[in-house]
Amino acid sequence: MDPRPARHLISLDDLTDAELYRLVERGAAFSAGTLKGHRPLAGLVTGVYFAKTSTRTRTAFSAGAQRLGSSLVTYGPGDLQINTGETSEDTGRVFSRMLDVLVARTAADPREMRAWARQERMSVINAMSADEHPTQALADLTTLLRHFGRIDGLRVLYVGEGNNTAVALARALSRYPGTELELRTPPGYGLPAGVLDAARRHAERTGAVVREEHTMDGLPGGFDVVYTTRWQTTGTTKPDPDWREIFAPFQVGGGLWESSPKAVFMHDLPAHRGEEVTAEVLDGPASIAFEQAENKMHSAMAVLEWCRSAGPGA
Ligand code: CP
Repeated sequence: MDPRPARHLISLDDLTDAELYRLVERGAAFSAGTLKGHRPLAGLVTGVYFAKTSTRTRTAFSAGAQRLGSSLVTYGPGDLQINTGETSEDTGRVFSRMLDVLVARTAADPREMRAWARQERMSVINAMSADEHPTQALADLTTLLRHFGRIDGLRVLYVGEGNNTAVALARALSRYPGTELELRTPPGYGLPAGVLDAARRHAERTGAVVREEHTMDGLPGGFDVVYTTRWQTTGTTKPDPDWREIFAPFQVGGGLWESSPKAVFMHDLPAHRGEEVTAEVLDGPASIAFEQAENKMHSAMAVLEWCRSAGPGA
């Protein structure tokens, strides 16, 4: 086992501003290819446990950990004795005696991951819980830094559900001076009030702006980024049978570029063309959604490196 104390990433709100900026800068450095051959996880073992479906995040952490020198143990939804009644707590206790890092997607209450993180041997990384998708926002900001060469001052329009991707984006972007996050979320599907308040507190401190409205009317222009997310967030269902009617006005189509002609388009993927976004936009010249997907691996490498680099002066 690695003798260094473990650091965990459960929520972006657990990070200092300096830690957040450092993670994004390291993600961009991995993305730029300047850290080739860097193997800070050599000799370590990373567990990758996904209780819910994933293409990007699971591959990003699996490939990223191996590129950094770690070996892997992987578990899918049906693999663990949790399915036969072993407690989550006992599962975490066993993991921490064998693994150096656990990357977990539970889509459940984040208290489960916080319980697993109550030890210093094994790092726990939230690869998406019900309330937040922190490593998605790190990939998003890494993509912004790579594309624009800065994050400060960028104006981002987010259209769609106030889901765990939006929560993480609000928590991260509001830490960057002069940024603007305009959220247009369907009525009844906005950001949780506590998250909006916390993001606004960050924004007051940094000179950022976070706004949310539940209509597409009166939209200002001149955005640098238009961002959307799938209507059916992974691991969730919508009890309202009429939810599609509520979401329909929030589809991202080419018309949005009339008032924001220079905007790039971002999407956390997976996408459903014809629902949250038209094919014309997702596959069009403004789209950087697949660069964003690739940056999930580079930012995952930054997170893995950071989690195992605690120590004097780190
Ligand atoms: N964006 C994202 O988390 O993708 P996956 O669900 O495929 O991991």
